[in-house]
Amino acid sequence: MSSLSGKRILLGISGGIAAYKTPELVRRLRDAGATVRVVMTHAATTFITPLTLQATSGNPVHTELLDHTAEAGMGHIELSRWPDAVLIAPATANRMARLAVGLADDLLSTLCLALAEGVPLCLAPAMNHRMWSAPATMHNRDTLLARGVHLFGPTNGPQACGEVGLGRMEEPQHLVEDLARLFVRPWLAGQSLLITAGPTREALDPVRFLSNRSSGKMGYALAAAAAAMGAQVTLVTGPTSLPTPPNVRRIDVVSAQEMLGAVLDHIRDCGIFIACAAVADYRPVVTAPHKIKKQGENTMALVLERTEDIVATVSALPQRPFVVGFAAETEQLEANALKKLHNKGLDMVVANWVGGEIGFESDDNALQIYWAGGQKILARARKSALAYTLLELIAARLNPGLHPGLTSGHIPTPAPTGATA
Ligand SMILES: Cc1cc2nc3c(=O)[nH]c(=O)nc-3n(C[C@H](O)[C@H](O)[C@H](O)COP(=O)(O)O)c2cc1C
Repeated sequence: MSSLSGKRILLGISGGIAAYKTPELVRRLRDAGATVRVVMTHAATTFITPLTLQATSGNPVHTELLDHTAEAGMGHIELSRWPDAVLIAPATANRMARLAVGLADDLLSTLCLALAEGVPLCLAPAMNHRMWSAPATMHNRDTLLARGVHLFGPTNGPQACGEVGLGRMEEPQHLVEDLARLFVRPWLAGQSLLITAGPTREALDPVRFLSNRSSGKMGYALAAAAAAMGAQVTLVTGPTSLPTPPNVRRIDVVSAQEMLGAVLDHIRDCGIFIACAAVADYRPVVTAPHKIKKQGENTMALVLERTEDIVATVSALPQRPFVVGFAAETEQLEANALKKLHNKGLDMVVANWVGGEIGFESDDNALQIYWAGGQKILARARKSALAYTLLELIAARLNPGLHPGLTSGHIPTPAPTGATA
């Protein structure tokens, strides 16, 4: 269930070319369970008709400040009292300037001034990249940020004017995710989480190593989401190029052995352990002290040994936390995931395909989640969005009363063959 379920979202549309994306934005907001009312500027109505937004939102569209049909003649005040959040998408350069200055000469700017304290005002800027980087716009952006306005985007890429740069509106689905994040419930408050992320590197010699294509994005997204949901989060990470998420304690490691050491050092007092790292299954038996030189032969044999099984080690601890393992597979996803769940004694396994378009390195993923007696399939979405849904499921497994809508269903017992890594 999205955190937008039951929320009242006032969508302000100003006069940019990206206004053509707003019917889809409205549809996605409603799919997430929000009620949407739309206010359009006069310029916006030249890009897309109010009738289209009325049809998609299922509510009358408002355009006039001086509206004699509004109850008590004060539509701007009525509208300002209604929403749980206001999202202006697209937000033009002109709209940002008006908000920064505090003008009240049309319906949208006036209701924004009249908004009650604590109601988030969010902008999705969209404009030519030079308009965006103009000193006046940057000044207005900084003024609005300092006032607590939320900015979603803009993003980089090809623009309607034919130029390329920073100024594209965030895609509708991403705006819905950004907005949903504002309403995340603190379901992990009081919980302590340990999350592993990224690849490990197993040294062959001082300059070479065995590793894999994990970017760490899924584990970092989980760490960010868990912290936002109120948990104390420790992130044990292999080498990545990602910034540390806010309010997350980060411990950098390189090899599987170091990762196990860091996990065991910090697992005590942890209520939840999520093993999201792509830990190497094997490492060279010998790490050469100097760079290995080319030999006369055309082939070279490496002798490898098994690395530590981190998730199985944690799972076997006498006082173990709730243990969640990840299974990255290129074949037989469900069967391999279920084997891992049973053989390693996990509380939950999260399986995803790798080697294709999504999974490793990508910003998107699709997850199949299994636990004893239940399963849930999460369709392709941004890793940041999936992280919240997965953590909600984990919170619900720990405290079923929190999340009565949790999907459950019978899952088959796997064939008793060997464990998967
Ligand atoms: C074809 C066309 C496209 C435009 N696209 C944008 C845009 O993407 N972003 C922007 O800031 N202004 C854009 N403008 C300029 C705005 O429409 C103009 O500044 C207008 O006054 C905005 O009014 P509003 O903020 O009240 O909606 C565009 C103008 C035209 C004619």
